[in-house]
Amino acid sequence: MKKKLLSMILATSMIATVLVGCGSDSAQTAAPAEEAATEEAAAEEEAPAEDAAAEEEAAPAAAAGTKVGVSMPTKDLQRWNQDGANMQAELEAAGYEVDLQYASNDVQTQVSQIENMISGGANVLVIAAIEGSSLGEALDMAKAANIPVIAYDRLLMNSDAVSYYATFDNYMVGTKQGEYIVDALDLDNAAGPFNLEITAGDPGDNNAGYFYNGAMDVLKPYIDEGKLVVVSGQVSFEETATPTWATETAQSRAENILSSNYADGTQIDVWLCSNDSTALGVENALAANYNGEYPIVTGQDCDIENVKNMIAGKQSMSIFKDTRTLASQVVKMVGQILSGETVDVNDTETYDNGTGVIPSYLCEPVFADINNYKELLIDSGYYAESDLQ
Ligand code: BGC
Repeated sequence: MKKKLLSMILATSMIATVLVGCGSDSAQTAAPAEEAATEEAAAEEEAPAEDAAAEEEAAPAAAAGTKVGVSMPTKDLQRWNQDGANMQAELEAAGYEVDLQYASNDVQTQVSQIENMISGGANVLVIAAIEGSSLGEALDMAKAANIPVIAYDRLLMNSDAVSYYATFDNYMVGTKQGEYIVDALDLDNAAGPFNLEITAGDPGDNNAGYFYNGAMDVLKPYIDEGKLVVVSGQVSFEETATPTWATETAQSRAENILSSNYADGTQIDVWLCSNDSTALGVENALAANYNGEYPIVTGQDCDIENVKNMIAGKQSMSIFKDTRTLASQVVKMVGQILSGETVDVNDTETYDNGTGVIPSYLCEPVFADINNYKELLIDSGYYAESDLQ
C-alpha cells in the first residue's frame, strides 16, 4: 500500500519526494523515510523552491546553489578532520555549496548547527552524530522541511528522518581485529593461556557495539576454552566501554587495570582496543606502568600518532578506513538523491535505527600493520612520509 502511494508520489515534481522515494525503491525495504514521503504529499504546496530544482532532474547532480550541510562531531580526533575535509573538497568539486560544521563533541552545539544548516537552506544533510540518539529535535526539523538526511559513519538512532546510511562495515572492523589476535598468538595451535584486556568504545556511538561484537564473536570461544584469560575480569561491553572515545579515559582505566592486576609481574599478552584514540590511552598507560614483554595492541583508523606507534613497535595493527572512499560514496549518494536516481546501497538488513532498517552503503575496512602501512597509507597518497616522522 505504502509502495503504491510512493510510486504516485514519485510522479510528482517534488524533488524531496523523489529523493526519499528512490531510496526506498532501491532498498526494497520498509524504509522509515517512506513515512516522510507520505507526509510530504500532503505538504506539497509548501515547497515552491523545490519545484524549480525538480525540473532540472536530468541536469548534472549539482544544480546551481545546491547546498549540502555537513555536520561532524569534533575536531579533536584526527579522522573527523579528514572526513570533513574530504567531504568538503569532493562536494565542492562536484559543484555544491558546502556548510561544514564541527560540534566540539557537544550535543547541543551539534543540534543548533544542524538547525542553522536547515534555516540556511541546505538541500541535503550529511551527519556524523556525536551521540546517535540525541539529535531528535534537529532531525524532526529536517523532516518537516523535506530535507533528506544521510547518516555518515555513525547511525542516527530512533528517528524516521534518516534516508540513508553510509559507513564502513563496522562488524567487520571487529572481526578483523579479533582475527589478527588469533593469528598473532597462533591461538589454534599454541597452548596458552594468554592474558587479554579489552578497551571498547563509546556507548553513545552505535558503531561501538558492532566493533566489540565483531571482535568478541571471534575471541569468545578462546575465552570460554580458557586459552584467553581476561585477568581484570572486565569483559562485557559496559565494563570495557570508553565514553566519547576519550584517550584520557582509556588511559586511566588501563592504569587501574595494570596496577591492580599486573603490578606483580603478571604478563599481559594482548590488549584489544576498538580504535586508535583508545589504543593511544592504553599505550600511554603501558609505557608508564608496565615493564613486562610488550603486548599485542589493536586499533582502528590509522591515525598519525598510532601509525608512528606502529612503526615504533607500540601498536601492532590498526584498521584503515580510507575516508576518501567514504566521502566519494556519500557525494555520489547526494547526487543520486538530488537527481532522483536510484541510490547505491549494498546492505538493506543490518542497520535498524529503531524505526526500521536504514538502506546502507558499507565500505570495506582494511587491515594495516607494519608490513603494509607504506603501501596503504603512503603510496596511496593518504599520508606523506614526513607526516609519520
Ligand atoms: C568511528 C571510528 C572512530 C570512533 C571515534 C566511530 O564512530 O567509526 O572510526 O575511531 O568513532 O571517533
